[in-house]
Parts: sequence; C-alpha cells; structure tokens
Amino acid sequence: MSDGHIPVLLCEMLQSLNVQDQGCYLDATFGGGGYSEAILKHADCQVFAIDRDPQAVARGRLLEQQYPTRFKIFEGCFSDLSHLAAAHFWNKFDGIVFDFGVSSFQIDQPERGFSFRFDGPLDMRMSTNGISAGEVVNTFEVEDLANLIYRYGEERKSRRIAAAIVRRRAEKPFETTADLAGFIEKLLGRKFGAQHPATLTFQALRIFVNNELIEIEEGLNFSQNFLKSGGYLVTVTFHSLEDRIVKTFVRARSSRTKVASRLLPGEIQTEQPLFLDLFPKGISPTALEVQQNPRSRSARLRVARRLYISNDEVLI
Ligand SMILES: C[S@@+](CC[C@H](N)C(=O)[O-])C[C@H]1O[C@@H](n2cnc3c(N)ncnc32)[C@H](O)[C@@H]1O
Repeated sequence: MSDGHIPVLLCEMLQSLNVQDQGCYLDATFGGGGYSEAILKHADCQVFAIDRDPQAVARGRLLEQQYPTRFKIFEGCFSDLSHLAAAHFWNKFDGIVFDFGVSSFQIDQPERGFSFRFDGPLDMRMSTNGISAGEVVNTFEVEDLANLIYRYGEERKSRRIAAAIVRRRAEKPFETTADLAGFIEKLLGRKFGAQHPATLTFQALRIFVNNELIEIEEGLNFSQNFLKSGGYLVTVTFHSLEDRIVKTFVRARSSRTKVASRLLPGEIQTEQPLFLDLFPKGISPTALEVQQNPRSRSARLRVARRLYISNDEVLI
C-alpha cells in the first residue's frame, strides 16, 4: 500500500496500540496507509482513517476497496475530528494513532514544494487550501517573518534571514524552493557535513502554513474525549516542537496536578489522572531501522493509556 513511504516504528506502533479482534481504531494520519494496512492485517478489527491531503485520501479509497466492511477514510484535519465524529456517529476508539509530519509522498513530489532537495513551487500545503509558503515569504512583514522562522524553526539566525528575504523580494519575489534554499545557503554559507542551512527555515514555513502545532493540540484533545477506558494513544513525532506538545499534554494529565500557581504553560489542573504515561522517555527507532530508513532518525513514539476514574477507582 505505502510504496513511496516507509512507515516508521511500525512494529512498535502495532504493539503499543494493542490491536485486537473486534477493536475499533483511528489512524489520524493515513499518509501512505502503512499503519492502517498493518492494523487491518494484524486483527479482525475496524479502522477509520483521516488525512487532510486529498492525494492521501485517494490512496485510502483503494484500501477501502480491499476492506469494504472494515476500513473507511475521511478527508479532514485533526481540528475537524469532533465534527467528523458527530456527523458519522463514531463511538469511542480502542486506540488512536498519530504519525505527525509529512509523508514521503508529499516530500518527494517537487510540485508540492516541501523540499529544497527538489525544485518546485514554494507551496508546502498538505491540503489544497490556505496560504502557501510563497505567499508568506513574499508578503509578510519582516518582523512577522523573523518571528515565525524563530518560533517554528528554532532558527537562531531568523532576523538575518528575514531581513535578507525582504530585501531580495523587493527586486524579485521568491517563486521556487530552489530559489529560496539557494538564497539562504548563499547568505549563511554551508559547512561540510552540516545540515542544509535552509532546513530550519523550511521547517518553520511548513509548520506555519499547515498550522501544525495547533492541529496537534486539537488532535490530542480529541483523543482525550474519544478513547475508551483503557484505550491507547500512540503518537510518533519528528522534531522537538511536536514532541514537547505531546509530552506536556500527557504529563499534565498523568498525575493529580499541582496547585494552580505551579502549572507550566499547557498544563491543566486535573482532580484525577486521565492518562497513564507508559513510556515517559518515548521509544526511538533501532539503529537498524535508521540505517534502512534514514527519515526515521528523529522519530519518537509515545504511548499513553486512557484512564477513567470513578469514586477513586481506576477503570480500565
Ligand atoms: C508521516 S505521514 C503518515 C504516514 C502513515 N503513518 C503511513 O504509514 O503511511 C503524515 C500524514 O499526516 C497528514 N497530516 C498531517 N497533519 C494533519 C492534520 N492536521 N490533519 C490531518 N492529516 C494530517 C499528512 O497529510 C500526511 O499524509
């Protein structure tokens, strides 16, 4: 199914999701369908999937033909999940999995404009709507551009990059990925063996264009409401900004929290724990997986179990 995208941490995901016969699972990031297909093969269960990318949904339609009674895909974002659940009368799930970020299908298609390794239009949208990376680069005020490159790329040279972009676009707007990447490379220089100097700026633009961090929060909130008692939340993240959101979300709900004045940003005050953090440090790919699929190198899988507590009794 997923020719073109090698699913990351696949065995670990299957085990963590605890896939069982008669179970019902949500794959919230269908992509190439590697996770959905593995879940369907593993047990006689039902899988619902979503993806915001119409091309991923088209791939999902093929899997629907293979498993007409057990698999269904919907186009939508994490922030649409509650509406989809209401519209389609979804019950609570035994497991929900998120494999955040972009698929190899998206990165490796030059016309999607995600990568500086291929020349394509500066787009980076996972879905077909919203503002493109080109519009951001060519129209944002210098201050806003610098802030977003710093915030979403954690790029320390954000001000220098933004100022140079704004000067250059006055003469000639940026239209392609190669143009922007080459410009940043020339500006910052490139050290042998180091990552491409445009890496963090591209990451920042992609996260901003797709509103990725808010989407993650929306997805996690949905899982809190739509996991059965004892159900598993499995997440795979690819960089520290994503991972921090998941870690904070689960930690904040895994213990009876402190007094309000001691809460960290993002934490909530719960009377009772809502999740059990099964691997507080997360699970990383093995050296062999990284060797076979270098794109897995920064992946981290986290697993949490939904708890419902009644009269101080943990129900799972
Ligand atoms: C890393 S890929 C998933 C790969 C998949 N697990 C597989 O094995 O083929 C991530 C997918 O999630 C989708 N995605 C990212 N953010 C999303 C969001 N907020 N809502 C819905 N889909 C999203 C992307 O379009 C992409 O297809």
